[in-house]
Amino acid sequence: MNQQIDHLLNEDRRFAPSSQFSQDAVAGPELYDEAQADRLEFWAKQSRDLLHWHTPFTNVLDWTSPPFAKWFDDGELNVAYNCLDRHVEAGLGDRVALHFEGEPGDTRTITYAELTDEVKRLANVLEGFGVGRGDRVAIYLPMIPEAIASLLAVARLGAVHSVVFGGFSADSLRSRIDDAGAKVVITADGGYRKGKASALKVNVDQALADRGDGEQLTVEKVLVVRRTEQEVDWDGERDVWWHDVVPQASGEHEAQAFPSENPLFILYTSGTTGKPKGILHTSGGYLTQAAYTHRNVFDLHPETDVYWCTADIGWVTGHTYATYGPLANGATQVLYEGTPEFPEPGRWWDIIEKYGVTIFYTAPTAVRSFMKQGRDIPLQRDLSSLRLLGSVGEPINPEAWMWFREVIGSGITPIVDTWWQTETGAIMISALPGVTETKPGSAQVPLPGISIDVVDEKGEPVGNDAGGMLVVTEPWPSMLRGIWGDPDRFVETYWKMFADKGFYFAGDGARRDEDGDIWLLGRVDDVMNVSGHRLSTAEIESALVAHEATAEAAVVGANDETTGQAVVAFVILKESFLKTHTAEGLAEALRQWVGTQIGPIARPRDVYIVGELPKTRSGKIMRRLLRDVAEGREVGDTQTLADTAVMSVITKQVR
Ligand code: PRX
Repeated sequence: MNQQIDHLLNEDRRFAPSSQFSQDAVAGPELYDEAQADRLEFWAKQSRDLLHWHTPFTNVLDWTSPPFAKWFDDGELNVAYNCLDRHVEAGLGDRVALHFEGEPGDTRTITYAELTDEVKRLANVLEGFGVGRGDRVAIYLPMIPEAIASLLAVARLGAVHSVVFGGFSADSLRSRIDDAGAKVVITADGGYRKGKASALKVNVDQALADRGDGEQLTVEKVLVVRRTEQEVDWDGERDVWWHDVVPQASGEHEAQAFPSENPLFILYTSGTTGKPKGILHTSGGYLTQAAYTHRNVFDLHPETDVYWCTADIGWVTGHTYATYGPLANGATQVLYEGTPEFPEPGRWWDIIEKYGVTIFYTAPTAVRSFMKQGRDIPLQRDLSSLRLLGSVGEPINPEAWMWFREVIGSGITPIVDTWWQTETGAIMISALPGVTETKPGSAQVPLPGISIDVVDEKGEPVGNDAGGMLVVTEPWPSMLRGIWGDPDRFVETYWKMFADKGFYFAGDGARRDEDGDIWLLGRVDDVMNVSGHRLSTAEIESALVAHEATAEAAVVGANDETTGQAVVAFVILKESFLKTHTAEGLAEALRQWVGTQIGPIARPRDVYIVGELPKTRSGKIMRRLLRDVAEGREVGDTQTLADTAVMSVITKQVR
């Protein structure tokens, strides 16, 4: 953290938008004034301008029982209608919604009319399975058009989707299906990643297998897309091929209106305990802020822009900025199935050149790995169509920011560094590209309509040139409405810290510079950020101790040049295992174990076998000290340790 603070003190580069960009920009400085003048009226106007309400709302915000907010409460709308039908009815049916590119090179161009048709058929199929308002549908799919169609079909029925990232294991899938009580699972035989067909259906079968614990399974049907044509096991009662039912279903389906606060989706994210929390989002407020941010932050001109967000549908970015935001705005977007480096490292740049991508939204971890490969690879492609770049998921260091702008953005494109979370639903802090003079490394300013501050422990603003905790001080339309099935945890996690002020605590440390601009400094709790993905130390620790060889485990996030943070585990093994196995062998076995328990993203970069862990007298593991070791630093203050000698032993063992 200190290093970052030093760095920002030296950062005095500024990049104003060109006068041409400002002139053509969707968002002008007046947005700040309008929001300032009457915040709620501002949001009401955005919502009315950007969405179609079947029943117009009269209430904007109901905040009478905080922290449980209701936005546009008495209005009714259909989320899928807003993303599809209304564009077709407006005569835009021939506009391309998706330029799909599969990893093997197969392509599909899907217009708004075609996507609407597919979603209507799928909605009819799901209705046939008994899915209706409020039912939960789990989605476990690769980045293929059917994934986007699935989200929209579920939304169309007023049902609730729970997307589980395709990289998660059968166990992770199972616990999410159980927690949400999903009635239907939509999956595929597999998907393409790094040139290989990875299996998904197998994991679904395993997740739904009878575990003999008397637990009643809620899943009645599994709808399967054929993507890779690999062999799959089949349960004739339960499993249905997509291609056997969707094309045959009726293409007539009228979108019904649902109340604004009808739940739209649950998305699980890591917290400070071992159990992932199901973040709940609802309809009208979420879609308002998704559309508003997508239009203004990305300066979307839907008639001419080709937009590409590289996030997977399994993360919130894939929900808000690869599905709901762009489709609500009638954008044309690229959807790519695979990894950036297949079949060779220039794949993403080829895609930008091929489709003439104008707006490109990605993560710092990707930018840093491209930096490592060198600028020659992107420079061999024509990237001149790009006019705006965006970054999300973790702090982007000024070097990566500069490289992104110079090499990918030809030294001219504005970069918007967008801060937000699964919980916030949509972007909260970002430059407006035609207005803000950008600074490499800083997310800068809250969007018009959003109230953010950096405060000390008492909730007092720290002012300029000081650090503290990031809070949201007023409710916002796309805020989470709760944690699925656990209202107490919702209050405890986000609202207790500053209960007397009514602030939402984001869990991030931040700093305001002399100009008042905000710099994000990473999490202040036990949540790691690996390649822009949140992982909890507790979740990985519980996976590690579930292995028969482990006696105790502590996990920390250590700085990593490419992934931002990396998972580093310190493990005490059971004596009996050390007699029969080598430490190296067990360390490797534990890495693989975590990969199968949670998913490959959670696999530790390093597993250190140690004899003891540093603990306070009350038995709390001092992760701060382990982080020092993992990052190769001098170990900090050890006075509060029960046994002050333990750190030198650990340091020796690790080196
Ligand atoms: O620590 C912040 C970091 O990612 C966390 C949210 O993670 P998740 O819910 O998975 O959503 C990621 C995509 C929105 C935040 O608490 N984070 C996100 N964006 C930024 C960021 N840190 C710094 N700068 C950002 N632009």
